[in-house]
Amino acid sequence: MTIIRPAFSRRMFLGGTAAASGIVTLGLPLAATSAAAAPTPSPDYGPAPGVAKLNANENPYGPSPSAIKEMYEASKLGAYYVGASVPMLKSMIAERYGISPEQVSFSAGSSGVLTYIAMAAGAKGNVLGPDLFWDTTARMGTRHGGELVRLPKNEDLSIDLDAMYDAITDDISLVQITNPNNPQGTVLDGEALRAFCKKASQKVTVLVDEAYNELTDKPEYYSVIDLVKEGYDVIVARTFSKIYGLAGMRVGYAISSPENAAMIASYGLGDYALNQAGVAAAVASYNDLGFLEMSKSKIVEAREMVAAGVKSVGLTALPSSTNFMFVNLGSLNAETFRQKMAQRNVLIRGIYGSYTNWSRVSMGRLEHVQMYIDALPAVLDEMGA
Ligand SMILES: Cc1ncc(COP(=O)(O)O)c(C=O)c1O
Repeated sequence: MTIIRPAFSRRMFLGGTAAASGIVTLGLPLAATSAAAAPTPSPDYGPAPGVAKLNANENPYGPSPSAIKEMYEASKLGAYYVGASVPMLKSMIAERYGISPEQVSFSAGSSGVLTYIAMAAGAKGNVLGPDLFWDTTARMGTRHGGELVRLPKNEDLSIDLDAMYDAITDDISLVQITNPNNPQGTVLDGEALRAFCKKASQKVTVLVDEAYNELTDKPEYYSVIDLVKEGYDVIVARTFSKIYGLAGMRVGYAISSPENAAMIASYGLGDYALNQAGVAAAVASYNDLGFLEMSKSKIVEAREMVAAGVKSVGLTALPSSTNFMFVNLGSLNAETFRQKMAQRNVLIRGIYGSYTNWSRVSMGRLEHVQMYIDALPAVLDEMGA
C-alpha cells in the first residue's frame, strides 16, 4: 500500500480555529445560544411529559436554535429532493479535515454507512470487533454473509488492542472499533489506537466509529481521521445525532479514501438518503460553537451529577468521555434495575451481553438526570441491596 504523508496540520475539532473561521467563510451566524428551555414534549415525537428518556444517548438540548430556523426554511421546499445543500455540507466537513469532498459519504445517520461497510466486509469475510461495542450495524451488515467475530471478554471492560491485532486472521476482512466505546463510555488512548490502526490496516480495513468524539476532552487527539488523510486503509464514521442534537434528523457520514467511498456508495442511496430539513439542520449546527459548547457543558455537568449520585448509594461508574455512563450494580441484575427505573418513568438500558450487572444511563436534561438519581435509593432498596 502506498502511504502518502502530506504535512498534516491538525485542524481543530470543537473549539478551535477552523470552526471559528468556518463561521465567517460559510456565512453562518454564530448563534448566541443559551441553554434552551425544554420544548413542550409531545409523545408523537419524543418522550411523554414527565418521562426521563435516558436510554438512547440523544442530546435533548438540540436542535440548536439556528438549526430549527433553517429546518423550518428548508421544509418549505420539502417538495424537492435534496440539492445544493448536500455538496455544501460535504465541503464544510472536507474543509475542516483538509480532505477532498469525495472522501465524505453520507447516509441517514451514521448507521447507514456503518452497515454498508459491514455488508461489504461480510461479502469478503468476517468482521472482528471487541466483546462489547456498538455492534448493531456490524450484526445487520453480516446478516447475509460473513460473521461478527468478537474478542474474548475483558474483565476491566477495556479493548485489548494487542489481542485485537493477534485476532486478525485470514478470514477477517474488517476490524471495527468504537471510540469512545459504547456502552462503556471510555476512550482508548489516541496514540495507542493510532499505532494499532497503522499496523492493522496493513492487513485489513479498520473502521473506527467516532460517534462520541466531540464529547471527549481532546477530540483531535482521540480521532484517527489524520490516518485516513495519510493514506492508511482506515474509515472513520461520524454523526450529527449526538453532540449536534439531531438524532431524529438522521444525518451521518464516513470519512475514507475515495476508493472506500465508492465502495460505500455502491450499497446505499448516498446523498439521496438525506432529507432537506436534516441537511439544513446539519449545515446550521456544524460550526455553531455557542450551541456545541453549551451542550457539552451540560453533559459534563450531568456526568458529575451521576458520578456523585451513584457514589452516594455505594455504586461506581466507569469514567465517561461520552453522554452516557456505565454503572456497576455489583451483584444486582441490570434488567430488573431497568424495569424498576421504568416504573418510576426513568428509561435506561438493560443488560448488555454477558455483563448482567452493568447498566447504561444517558446524560439527558439535568432535571431528568436528577429523576434517575432521586430514584436510586428506592430502587436499590426494592432490589434488596
Ligand atoms: C457508537 C455509535 N455509533 C453509531 C450510532 C448510530 O447513530 P446514528 O445512526 O444516529 O448516527 C450510535 C447510536 O447510538 C452509537 O452509539
